[in-house]
Amino acid sequence: MSDVTPFIEEPRPTRAAAVIPAAGLGLRLGPGAPKALRPLGGTPMLVHAVRAMARARAVALVVVVAPPEQVTLVRSLLDEHPPPPAVDQLVVAGGATRQESVRLGLAALPEDIGVVLVHDAARPLVPVETVDAVASAVRSGAPAVVPALPVTDTVKAIAKPGAPGEPEPVVATPERALLRAVQTPQGFDRATLLAAHDAATSDLATDDAGLVERMGVEVVLVPGHEEAFKVTRPLDLLLAEAVLARRRINDGY
Ligand code: C5P
Repeated sequence: MSDVTPFIEEPRPTRAAAVIPAAGLGLRLGPGAPKALRPLGGTPMLVHAVRAMARARAVALVVVVAPPEQVTLVRSLLDEHPPPPAVDQLVVAGGATRQESVRLGLAALPEDIGVVLVHDAARPLVPVETVDAVASAVRSGAPAVVPALPVTDTVKAIAKPGAPGEPEPVVATPERALLRAVQTPQGFDRATLLAAHDAATSDLATDDAGLVERMGVEVVLVPGHEEAFKVTRPLDLLLAEAVLARRRINDGY
């Protein structure tokens, strides 16, 4: 009998990174600082979003894509609110569109990252269970995973946007039961997401999964969460403050 213990190579855990595009101006929220830097419960929205991602078990690195003029400010802001010790964070400058900002975030990823979660800074209150569900679906083999909810409003399609305030002719009413409103984080196998961004022919994508779909790769939906809503308009800020206040009372969040 050999006294040499055979070397069994353990499968390496797939490290996941969260890329957080936060370089938008947030003009629909009204005048003021870039949206990601506006306070929610006294803390910038971006800090909430970073915390939400860093709390997820899978996430080893958070890459924040900041407004180009605010990279230094964002770095010091995140230093004031450090992530758990097991999570690294990085700040890079963003671009003119969301798609470009995500691409710049992806370019900063180290080699050993196999799974990428792209999460809007404008969704600061996404529960950790939603992040974990997306990450584990990708780790189980899905190339692209998106959290989504049924839509409550009936949705109409128009041929092209009209001038503000002008009537717009309707061209179709898609069946509501077959529609879903998608959220973030959207999770991807890294190589799939990089290929989708490389293959993109315009800079107009409002989500990353759309680029993957265009390559003919399957995208799957998992249940989203109503608290993962996007803070876009002033009313969303009020709702976010209320959700945060309730969490603070209920679980000392
Ligand atoms: O504009 P929209 O609400 O779709 O933005 C979604 C996310 O993309 C926000 O977190 C915003 O900060 C980010 N974004 C970005 N770079 C841009 C435009 C938007 O990082 N040029």
